[in-house]
Amino acid sequence: MTTSCLIRGLGHCLPETRLTNADLERMVDTNDEWITSRTGIKERRIAAKGETCVSLSHQAALNALKDAGMKPEELTHILVATFSADAIIPSAACMLEDRLGLTGRAAMDISAACSGFLYALETARAIVALHPEAKVLVTATDIVSSRIDYTDRGICVLFGDGAGAAIVTGDTPDAPRGCPRVLDVLLASDGSLGGLLTIKGGGSGTPYKPGGTVGRDFCVEMNGREVFKYAVRAMASICKEVLAKNGLTKEAVDVFIPHQANLRIIDAVGSRMEMPAEKVFTNVQKYGNTSAASVIIALSEARAEAFIKDGDLVLLGTFGGGFTWGSALVRF
Ligand code: ACO
Repeated sequence: MTTSCLIRGLGHCLPETRLTNADLERMVDTNDEWITSRTGIKERRIAAKGETCVSLSHQAALNALKDAGMKPEELTHILVATFSADAIIPSAACMLEDRLGLTGRAAMDISAACSGFLYALETARAIVALHPEAKVLVTATDIVSSRIDYTDRGICVLFGDGAGAAIVTGDTPDAPRGCPRVLDVLLASDGSLGGLLTIKGGGSGTPYKPGGTVGRDFCVEMNGREVFKYAVRAMASICKEVLAKNGLTKEAVDVFIPHQANLRIIDAVGSRMEMPAEKVFTNVQKYGNTSAASVIIALSEARAEAFIKDGDLVLLGTFGGGFTWGSALVRF
């Protein structure tokens, strides 16, 4: 069954507070040259007190609704891709529903780490296939800083906070002409490699008891070199797969938006794909790795900056903890 699925609006929201490489030099034994040469990252945005997964999701959602010319009341489903919801219960999606002044919608969080946006987008496509009248808010938000040990120089330089949102609907008669169309989404995972990138502490496998101490496992722990290798191979391979499945070649792609983990991964994926550098959108220099939010922030920003033009074929690729990875094709 082929069900057309439209992106009616896009939006994103980043915290105002910047954490620059110079700031990090004062916090840990690092330097701008090391960070820039290994990652390409110059600064990241960090949530201030009171800025949370739900508050950033809310602003990104309002921006996407405005872009779509829609009111919150029109939404039928609310999805939040995140590993850093404000609480374990209630879900970020239920809190966001409340913040939007809504009740009675279907609302749920989706956990797929940095691949969260594409997992949520595919879920939205399934909802729209079952309910063609559905209007699905897909947000992808992570406050990665809430799970970073800022004494761990190998990790703290890599990540930032942010949120992105898309309004996904079916191709119903009331939909305006010319909306971006999601052509396909591919998803994959390999749990046997999950131990290479973890946040274990506070989960039911590593519970914290009242009065106990929060261990280092409360924060992101990662085998960076192994993650790098798998990220490059998996992202390039699933991006090639989605093109082949749709009878397209890399030449058909106008804009390539890979997961904004770091510039070396992006460059390595781009060269495996033989994708000309001028087609590859990057903003990792400004925001670091914002996990689930990375690809949707980049998509929203690339469209706002006219890097993506009407008619363009956009290829998205993602990779994250789990491991999870995916790709998508969107015709603007
Ligand atoms: N500043 C200065 N030196 C540092 C820093 C730092 N911030 N961090 C580590 N080092 C040192 C290490 O201690 C080590 O020193 P040693 O040789 O004296 O032991 C040296 O630099 C090399 O460390 P490596 O970890 O081997 O450095 P590498 O070249 O592999 O780069 C990096 C590390 C940037 C993390 C790289 O492995 C990488 O990009 N991995 C991908 C990780 C990633 O992006 N994960 C995101 C989550 S998943 C995803 O989103 C794709």
